Amino acid sequence: MSKRVLTTESGAPVADNQNSASAGVGGPLLIQDQQLLEKLARFNRERIPERVVHARGSGAYGYFEVTDDVTGYTHADFLKSTGKRTEVFVRFSTVADSLGGADAVRDPRGFAVKFYTEEGNYDLVGNNTPVFFIKDPIKFPDFIHSQKRDPFTGKQEPDNVWDFWGHSPEATHQVTWLMGDRGIPASYRHMNGYGSHTYQWTNEQGEAFFVKYHFKTNQGIRCLSTEQAQEVAGKDANSHQTDLLQAIERGVNPSWTLYVQIMPAAEAADYRFNPFDLTKVWPHKDYPLRRVGRLVLDRNPDNVFAEVEQAAFSPNNFVPGIGPSPDKMLQGRLFAYADAQRYRLGVNHTLLPVNAPRATAADNYGRDGFMALNGQGRHAKNYEPNSYDGPVETGRPLSAPLAVNGHTGTHEAPQHTKDDDFFQAGELYRLMSEDEKSRLVANIAGGLSQVSRDDVIERNLAHFHAADPEYGKRVEEAVRALRED
Ligand code: HEM
Repeated sequence: MSKRVLTTESGAPVADNQNSASAGVGGPLLIQDQQLLEKLARFNRERIPERVVHARGSGAYGYFEVTDDVTGYTHADFLKSTGKRTEVFVRFSTVADSLGGADAVRDPRGFAVKFYTEEGNYDLVGNNTPVFFIKDPIKFPDFIHSQKRDPFTGKQEPDNVWDFWGHSPEATHQVTWLMGDRGIPASYRHMNGYGSHTYQWTNEQGEAFFVKYHFKTNQGIRCLSTEQAQEVAGKDANSHQTDLLQAIERGVNPSWTLYVQIMPAAEAADYRFNPFDLTKVWPHKDYPLRRVGRLVLDRNPDNVFAEVEQAAFSPNNFVPGIGPSPDKMLQGRLFAYADAQRYRLGVNHTLLPVNAPRATAADNYGRDGFMALNGQGRHAKNYEPNSYDGPVETGRPLSAPLAVNGHTGTHEAPQHTKDDDFFQAGELYRLMSEDEKSRLVANIAGGLSQVSRDDVIERNLAHFHAADPEYGKRVEEAVRALRED
């Protein structure tokens, strides 16, 4: 059998891939050595900017299958009939650390799903937590700066982490969640996923509903204690990646059941708290879970860089029947993702196979730019309207319009009262068993006691006291005990 020939990037055969061309046996190297120059130059350009958050991640392909009828609430085509399957790509991630970090850490996990529907790609870019730390996107860069590496010490600093939380009472619910047992999932397979935000569904009649998505793991929830996580991270920094890859290779395909909570749009204005506040959950007794379908992952990507690193999810990739709510955080995210991807991957990132529509094709007048890999519409007209059968608009909005009122300005979220920031944190604490409470208190105290300033500690203690007096007292005592040691 003849051997495959090694070639340069332009396809010419390479004569020697072990020895550079030199002027004489021991002499300096020659600039005419195309193989050497190209190889070194290409290597220098292998890295691209990592995601500014959620840099570490793992991905897999699979499908979403509708099991229950939701056509009364949305006319989204991929949810139209039970039994219908849609191909998906899912990327899981940690949030705060850079690519070189470890998987088994206390941190929220990303849970991003790309549905390749016949009406275009629908991206649901959520986390493994139903709530978030802040409720206005203008605070996001400050929040992330406080959680990532300090500009001077080059590492995550308890001072910064807790200083930001101390100034952000709305974070108390998510902090309670993160410091509890679910704060360190054992693997990506053993955790739930949440859309977290409130989204909008619209049915054929144009009626609007607000919805929250819940992906419940069928593998069961499994978590690691702080001590177990340290051991796992020390043995295999890529423990989540190893687990997901190997499970799918063995044919043990992970799955999740998708449920939604549905609120008729008219109920939003009078609900007892702002239903678009990302720091809150909707109690299930008000809006019960309704089953929608099953998410199954059954195929590993062939190439991590091409498919996982270059994957681009954007919360503003909606399909007809699904749209945004007025959640301010979501509104901010509608801008941030595609902008980040134009920087990280380039303006033509939507042409990459993992990001391009699969069940339909993109057809528009966007042209050119760096790495314009497709035919760019060939000889078709690149303006609209035109007289040459180019693609035209449908005239049908993707989702129902959102009602607005009042004046422009920098407003606090509607329906906001001061105790709002704490009551669900308190409810979560009171729901925990005695053992869970003890671990939660120990985890918080372990972090908070490392803070160097008393005022930062006091501000945080005040939040736990406000959530539940017993919760506050126990954290305070545990912090004091650790600081006296
Ligand atoms: C990734 C911004 C809040 C989940 C990212 C990226 C940016 C970003 C710029 C990197 C995108 C890329 O380079 O491809 C923001 C802003 C937020 C916000 C400005 C608030 C205003 C959230 C929330 C969630 C979330 C609330 C979950 C509910 C994710 C996930 C990824 C991500 C899962 C990784 C997606 C992937 O796997 O590629 N975010 N984010 N983010 N964000 Fe956010």
